Amino acid sequence: MYYVNIKGMSKVKRNLIRKLYDEKPLGEKVLIKGWIKSLRKNKSFSFIILNDGSSQKDIQIIANDDLNGYDEFTKCLIGSALSIEGELVESQGNQAIEVKASRVEIIGKTPQEYPLQKKGTSREFLREIAHLRPRTNLFSAVFRVRHELAQATHQFFSEKNFYYIHTPILTAMDAEGAGELFRVSTLDAENPPKDKKGKVIWEKDYFGRESFLCVTGQLEAEAFACGMGSVYTFGPTFRSENSNTTRHLSEFWMIEPEVAFADLDEIAELGSEYIQYMIKHALEKCPDEMKLFNSFVEKGLIERLEKVAHSEFTKITYTEAVDILQKSGQSFEYAVEWGSDLQTEHERFLTDQHFNGPVIVTDYPREIKAFYMKQNDDGKTVRAMDILVPGVGEIIGGSQREEELDKLSQRMDELGLEKDIYDWYLDLRRFGTVPHSGFGLGFERAVMYITGVNNIRDVIPFARTPKSISF
Ligand code: 4AD
Ligand code: MG
Repeated sequence: MYYVNIKGMSKVKRNLIRKLYDEKPLGEKVLIKGWIKSLRKNKSFSFIILNDGSSQKDIQIIANDDLNGYDEFTKCLIGSALSIEGELVESQGNQAIEVKASRVEIIGKTPQEYPLQKKGTSREFLREIAHLRPRTNLFSAVFRVRHELAQATHQFFSEKNFYYIHTPILTAMDAEGAGELFRVSTLDAENPPKDKKGKVIWEKDYFGRESFLCVTGQLEAEAFACGMGSVYTFGPTFRSENSNTTRHLSEFWMIEPEVAFADLDEIAELGSEYIQYMIKHALEKCPDEMKLFNSFVEKGLIERLEKVAHSEFTKITYTEAVDILQKSGQSFEYAVEWGSDLQTEHERFLTDQHFNGPVIVTDYPREIKAFYMKQNDDGKTVRAMDILVPGVGEIIGGSQREEELDKLSQRMDELGLEKDIYDWYLDLRRFGTVPHSGFGLGFERAVMYITGVNNIRDVIPFARTPKSISF
């Protein structure tokens, strides 16, 4: 038990259950605070199982009936919060340690209506009480893994000498050219200033022009790569696409590395290395959580991930992928035609059935990809790559960027992009232009893949999807 001095007052600091298992200070006096997972009352003593969220492990407390308030605290229901002082002792059971209580205090009681009293509540139901999800075994495990994957991300890129750049969230650019933007405006929504033709005068808006939430930080990351070499962003991105699927969010987090002097092959390798790094990190740092997913979420998860972490990713071109799909003999809902984007069912076939593992697909038709991608000499395809993984589909999207001013400028004209907004981006090609490449990894999709959880709403603390913005 630690004592800390706050403004002259002696205060006992609580021990994290995680630390108790790590350090096992047997015989010492400890103070723990947490929520009741179960309470079993016997004649002369009770067993309380407590969890404080610091790890997957609960701790068992033995409380004798001579303790103060015994009748009161043993009536507490699951989910009530307790403070326990006692001695950490070795236990007979398989938990290895337990606490012999010398004092038990009720911090917060739970009435009968507590929705998490019963075991086996569905994930759909839990989504409606997302604020209580962190109290469950499954969700606290998911979010501890999410935390570790964020740490792994910074470690991975730092070790490779990438600089972490914070790109803006507010923007005037539709950087992916897909038109899936959320408008940001301070104009009076009911009565905005309009010109004689009835068009809104955006010049009168806060930024003096139309503005939005970013769909990517890529273009700004390119500016930094073309000066600092290797950089990455890690931030929230927003898309108003009307996709009510298990893989799409309106607000999601993306990691976007951007590397000067790198071509598509280098960036594809970086992407697969990064995914493997995250897998190894999760398996090493979160063994208890991974075991839970392996038993209750996806059987065989650990074995599958181990395999992916240690084998090379298959790489094929889009044209080869189309060929495989057309010759597969499968009856797909959407026909496979050269020139149209791969649908989920097509991606699934490639990863889950044909290759049974992650696949890197390169050189997509230019018409289905963004304006900034490097054009191939065939005049039909661009140097794009997607990394697809089993169960999730596209986890990474990236490309080599068009570094030639004329070609980029012409493509932007073809697509009708407003030159004044993107002129700074063309400057990167006017002054000391270099080949450069990068990708974006959807963080939630990575969490889904590594935990086996198959709905994206269950791997982000509070999901934003069409018609849903509670909490
Ligand atoms: O393929 P996307 O649209 O690529 C870009 O945004 C590029 N600017 C990245 C780059 O080259 N720097 O998105 C990248 C990844 C996808 O592969 C997917 O994993 C994820 O972001 N993603 C989403 N995740 C959740 N919900 C959505 N609505 C998503 N849209 C894309
Ligand atoms: Mg994409």
